[in-house]
Amino acid sequence: MTSNTKKLFIKTYGCQMNVYDSQRMADVLAPIGYEVSQDMDDADMVILNTCHIREKAAEKVYSELGRIRPLQDRKAEGGGRMLVAVAGCVAQAEGEEIMARAPQVDMVFGPQTYHRLPEMIAQASRAAGEKVLDTDFPVEDKFDFLPEETKVDGVTGFLTIQEGCDKFCTFCVVPYTRGAEASRSPQSIIDEARRMVAAGLREVTLLGQNVNAYHGEGADGKEWGLGRLVRALADVDGLERIRYTTSHPRDMDDDLIRAHGEVPQLMPYLHLPVQSGSDRMLEAMNRKHTADDYFRLVDKLREARPDLALSSDFIVGFPGETDQDFADTIKLVQKVGYDAGAFSFKYSARPGTPAAAVEDQLSEAVKDERLKGLQQLLEAQQAAFNQSMPGKTIPVLFEKKGRMPGQLVGRSPYLQPVHIDGPDRLIGSIIECRITETKGHSLFGEPVMAGSEDEPLERKRALA
Ligand code: 5AD
Ligand code: SF4
Repeated sequence: MTSNTKKLFIKTYGCQMNVYDSQRMADVLAPIGYEVSQDMDDADMVILNTCHIREKAAEKVYSELGRIRPLQDRKAEGGGRMLVAVAGCVAQAEGEEIMARAPQVDMVFGPQTYHRLPEMIAQASRAAGEKVLDTDFPVEDKFDFLPEETKVDGVTGFLTIQEGCDKFCTFCVVPYTRGAEASRSPQSIIDEARRMVAAGLREVTLLGQNVNAYHGEGADGKEWGLGRLVRALADVDGLERIRYTTSHPRDMDDDLIRAHGEVPQLMPYLHLPVQSGSDRMLEAMNRKHTADDYFRLVDKLREARPDLALSSDFIVGFPGETDQDFADTIKLVQKVGYDAGAFSFKYSARPGTPAAAVEDQLSEAVKDERLKGLQQLLEAQQAAFNQSMPGKTIPVLFEKKGRMPGQLVGRSPYLQPVHIDGPDRLIGSIIECRITETKGHSLFGEPVMAGSEDEPLERKRALA
């Protein structure tokens, strides 16, 4: 470490998009001497990359800032300075208030501006300690200004291809904090995927708040949908697995559905949020589809890829939700069957969203009860799927060492964690494994032994 290396500590809240953004912030700051540290205590710069989607996000940020304050003071006593930045969606939504309430904060910037971080740091570092607030939705595309270097520290990784949302579901802050929907060009995505593969990546998850609304402009001037992009990425040598998240049922077009049947690299797992099974609630949420539309879509997807494991998001206790509406959600879950486990949340009013202004808000007790009922059902469906795995042989991509010595952990095509005993050199390889047992959400298995007739030669060698 050279003497002018500075320590950067980033705390990330919320979704994968924020995880990706934090990584890119680190990439932007590396050339000006910042090195990521796992230790906040004597960092030169602390970034809180915040999430605004559900819980009491802003309060969490203020209490974290309270904890940071003494560290800043200590650093100042030693003649140094700890710069503190609040980034992400809370910053976007409440920038000015943060500046006013927490004067210790040097910088507040939204998700669209982190490529301008070096400039902001220069400004904030001046002796006078200017404060920087940058929560514009700039006209330039932030992706065009990010360094090309992509850090990959494993065999799986995320790649943001699309950002923002124009759907305006009435409960959701994303259209306000992440701005209008924007897609990266296919070429820049393919180039980034190639670099990631060269650095050891085997599986990519394409990210976007509305990832299947992807509509990048190709070099030929034509608009590419997600189906076409997936096919092009499947041609990248060495990229073995492709996933994407999060999608909206309305943007699931036929080409993408066909890709699920035709592109072997596209994994048979799909997170397809529906939020509710009640047409009345779907309408109030501005989802712009019915429960029947969703059933038809699921049928089409399963026709294309019969072993598709589905996951979803649900909101219980949306304003005005009756027992009957909730019963419709339960019915939908029973009918669809979510093998891959789904996420369910109690509705929480987000300031500035239309649903927050509705009078008919439900009590916490009702929300708690519904959440419990829904989670039990979803949990049981996932458990039943996991319990159907013993005896099956499935390809597993090994990602890292397990907790027990000699153990490796990988993922099934359906995103289940799989544990086997095997040598470290298998990390990064896809190995056929016979599942022997399930425990909790994990599967345990053993590699299909070399020597079985259908075993490809490379695999026999890898196992030898
Ligand atoms: N209350 C509860 N859940 C919410 N989500 C988004 N906004 C809210 C809210 N105000 C959930 C939705 C979405 C997921 C990312 O978070 O289910 O799909
Ligand atoms: Fe929010 Fe998703 Fe609806 Fe967009 S589509 S408003 S991100 S829930």
